[in-house]
Amino acid sequence: MIISIVNQKGGVGKTTTAVNLGAALARAGHPTLLVDLDPQGNASSGVGIGDEQRLPGIYELLRGEVAADAAMRPTAQENYHVMPATADLAGASVELMNVDNREFRLREVLAPLKEQYSYIIIDAPPSLGVLTMNALVAAERVLIPVQCEYYALEGLGQLLQTIGLVKEHLHPELEVLGAVLTLFDRRVKVAHDVIKEVREHFPGKVFETVIPRNIRLAEAPSYGKNIFEYDDASQGAQTYQSFAQEVHDTVKNLINQQTPQT
Ligand SMILES: Nc1ncnc2c1ncn2[C@@H]1O[C@H](COP(=O)(O)OP(=O)(O)O)[C@@H](O)[C@H]1O
Ligand SMILES: [Mg+2]
Repeated sequence: MIISIVNQKGGVGKTTTAVNLGAALARAGHPTLLVDLDPQGNASSGVGIGDEQRLPGIYELLRGEVAADAAMRPTAQENYHVMPATADLAGASVELMNVDNREFRLREVLAPLKEQYSYIIIDAPPSLGVLTMNALVAAERVLIPVQCEYYALEGLGQLLQTIGLVKEHLHPELEVLGAVLTLFDRRVKVAHDVIKEVREHFPGKVFETVIPRNIRLAEAPSYGKNIFEYDDASQGAQTYQSFAQEVHDTVKNLINQQTPQT
């Protein structure tokens, strides 16, 4: 299952979710590939891939300079590989502008890897540019992190509209997996209101698990560790573990619906 984590707003927890959802799925025994599609490379650092280890990465793969195997690295977590990003990836947006089928590049390079991985998690950049278009066209499902703050719903209309356009014109099978509420602080009244509002707005499409604001989640990337390596007992680790279980159950149900048992 290829899941793209998309929201054109920055700071909503896309990368934190990509790194730790991926780690939790890998820990549960599912071979998982994390694709860092943000030129900032935060997902790569988050799984411990420093600047000096990032070449070749997703950019070189998209350019057709290397094979997929060469663009992948193992991480400290068993079953968990990453395709790192470098700042060069920002240039890919410009280069891809003039290429035919430019929105399909990522999908093409990931297609042969689908057999190898139970999950491919794509961490998209904070924009609706050509890289995010590639993330949407490559995805089977979109996961949308929504920050529990006052302007949470702002921008979601535009995002859903973009997803609708991609579905209509480029990728008819594209669906939203769901929205996940992030950075929840239970002491903040508006955070509770936002949860209620988002659930009303997207009935049945919001995951039960709500990711709390947890300092350990913010600290872990500076040590190049996922939350389970950094602090397995933290609330952040426990919540991403439950979230991964919920995602996996949702995906299993989808697959069962697609291939009814007789
Ligand atoms: N649940 C959380 N608790 C505490 N800090 C978080 C949490 N989720 C994300 N952060 C921090 O918030 C900032 C933005 O998160 P990030 O995952 O990078 O968002 P995005 O990828 O959407 O820009 C980062 O500094 C990250 O460490
Ligand atoms: Mg990010």
